[in-house]
Parts: sequence; C-alpha cells; structure tokens
Amino acid sequence: MTRPVARIGILTGGGDCPGLNAVIRAVAKAALSGGIEVMGVEDGYLGLIDDRIRPLAYADVSDILTRGGTILGSCNKANPADFALRVGDQWVRRDVTDQVVEHYGAAQLDALVVIGGDGTMSGAAHLMTRGLRIVGVPKTIDNDLWASDITFGHDTAVATATDALDKVHTTASSHHRVMVVELMGRYAGWLALNAGVASGADVILLPEIPFSLEKVVATCVDRSKRGRRFTIVAAGEGATPIGGARFVDRLDPNSPDPIRLGGVARFVADNVEKMSGLECRSMVLGHIQRGGTPTARDRVLATRFGFAAFELLTKGRFGEVVVEQKGAIRSVPIPEVAGKTRTVPRDHDMVGAARSVGTSFGD
Ligand code: F6P
Repeated sequence: MTRPVARIGILTGGGDCPGLNAVIRAVAKAALSGGIEVMGVEDGYLGLIDDRIRPLAYADVSDILTRGGTILGSCNKANPADFALRVGDQWVRRDVTDQVVEHYGAAQLDALVVIGGDGTMSGAAHLMTRGLRIVGVPKTIDNDLWASDITFGHDTAVATATDALDKVHTTASSHHRVMVVELMGRYAGWLALNAGVASGADVILLPEIPFSLEKVVATCVDRSKRGRRFTIVAAGEGATPIGGARFVDRLDPNSPDPIRLGGVARFVADNVEKMSGLECRSMVLGHIQRGGTPTARDRVLATRFGFAAFELLTKGRFGEVVVEQKGAIRSVPIPEVAGKTRTVPRDHDMVGAARSVGTSFGD
C-alpha cells in the first residue's frame, strides 16, 4: 500500500524567476491546511546534499505572493549525480546521490515538490530511480519546458523586456541609431519573440531562425531610406548567424549546463555599423529579466500550478510534473520532459504575424 503523505519537502532549483514564491505559498498553504507538515529545502538540490532542510509554518509562506525570487534560495549548479566539490585547491566531480537519499530519509519526507526547469526535472528523474517520491512544477523565464505551453515567470520577463525595448525605442528615435538589445532565453526564442512582437521591434533574431547580417543591414538601410531613421533589433541570446556558431560569453565548469550565452548583440551592432555606416549601439538586458514582482498572470498560473501539485501529492501520483496544455492544467511523467527543450516552431503563428507587420527575422 502507498505510504500516506504526512510531511512534504519543497525546493526551488535552477535559475530563479518571478512566481516561485507564489508556488511555494500555494503548495504549502494547501498542505498545512490539510494537516500535512511542510519542510523547506534551501538552495535547490544543494540543500538536500548539505542537509539544509527547515520547517515552514503558515506565517513563513504568508505575504510572499507578490515577492520576486524565492524565499528558499536556488542553485543551478547542484546535480546530485555529478556534483562539483572543492577538494583542496581542486574541483572534483562526485555522485552524491547517497547523501541526498540519506537526508531525504532523515527528514522523514514522504514526498518532495521540485519547482524548476529542465535541469531540475532531469535531477528529479534521477532521484526517482532511487526511491524519492517527487512531483514537479515547471518554472523558467525561457518558457522552454517540454510539454507545457507556458511556464510561470515568462510573462513577467516578457513585460520587463518589452518595457526595456519601449524605452530603447525613444532614445533610438532621437539619435537615429540602430539599437540591438540582447534578451535571455538560452536555446529558445520565446522571450525575444514575445517581447519583440509586443514592442514592435523591426528585427527579431531567434535561435530557431539563423540570420544573415546582410539581411539585417538591408532592413536598417531600407528603413533609413524611407525616413525611419532608427531600427530596433531584439536579439535572443541564442541567435546565430547562418553557418555560424552560438555566442558564448563564459563557461561555468561546475554547472550541469556550463554554457552561458552572450555576445550576439555586440556582434550584430558592430557589424551592422561597419557594413551600413549607420550608428549602432548594443546592450544586454541580462538578469533584470529574472527579477521583480510577478505579473498578475504569473501569480495566477503559479497558484494554479501549486494547487495542482498538491492534488497530485494527495492522490499519490508521484513522478509527474504539472503542465499547462491548451489552457488546461494537466500532468505528464517527469522523465518525459527531462533534458528536452521546447523551441519556437519556424511556422509559429506569431512569426507569421510579426512578418505581416513588416518585422524581419534576418532570414
Ligand atoms: O534559464 C534561465 C536563464 O536566465 C537563461 O535565460 C540564461 O541564459 C541563464 O539562465 C543565465 O544563467 P545564470 O543565472 O547562471 O547566469
């Protein structure tokens, strides 16, 4: 017979995003109201490795709905199966899964809610093979989790990026410049596409549609000739020139995904200036996109996801991750989403809509 759930743990893993606290609140309040004890695991899987697990009371999860970040802390480096450990002046990699299993058992957790992206779900799939009972909740500003039409955090990031692009618009217009703004999103272009469409960017560069510098230059020059003496380029950080490679800003060898993208905006701005004679500036919006208070939409989605996760727990449906599909909340097996990326289809209607109002994708 399945062991009933009397005590759960909650952790937030990977890069943070607005709405994490709203999920923690939803899961914890539902559980505590139902007489289930709640333990907060600090800093994602790192807290399970280091045994930093503390009780969460109702007061701890009150008044956090609108707060950005995560009250539990997060970490995008702690993969229990391949954990980077400092020994003397060297980094060595170890499988610390046994430690995680021991601490999960010692904390007398009956189940664990993991709130995270693809890396966190891969970690969950691994821990499930060692007997941990896990329910997943997808988060990421990138909106790239497989099987979910939307992840919370994305809407807020789109709003932040759109606001930035709107502001860049006015100064671009005053100085008659080409402004290239680099947006996050890793290997998926959802953030650049949504913010680009929302702000009426003239060029949108996506990882899914390799671009030609000549085409970007042609758009800028053509606008200039037509008296539109400025151009706004919204560039996803994973965008690549045709036949070229992704722009890598730095490598973080201790992270399960060591690549940190960056540099495409500078590359485009420098080359467009050289090739067209138009004055260009580039900027990287960076982690601002992960900060701030969640939008109303993200608060609602996070609350729905949190409640759905609680329901999976009480029904004993472990090993599943909550998703949104066609507006309905559903769940799918965690191993089904682990390690996969949901990218923008080249024929997505939003790409067509953007093209129809004159936006170039540089292709
Ligand atoms: O996955 C979320 C994300 O913000 C990506 O859009 C970005 O490429 C990456 O994380 C940045 O990671 P870090 O916080 O380690 O710099």
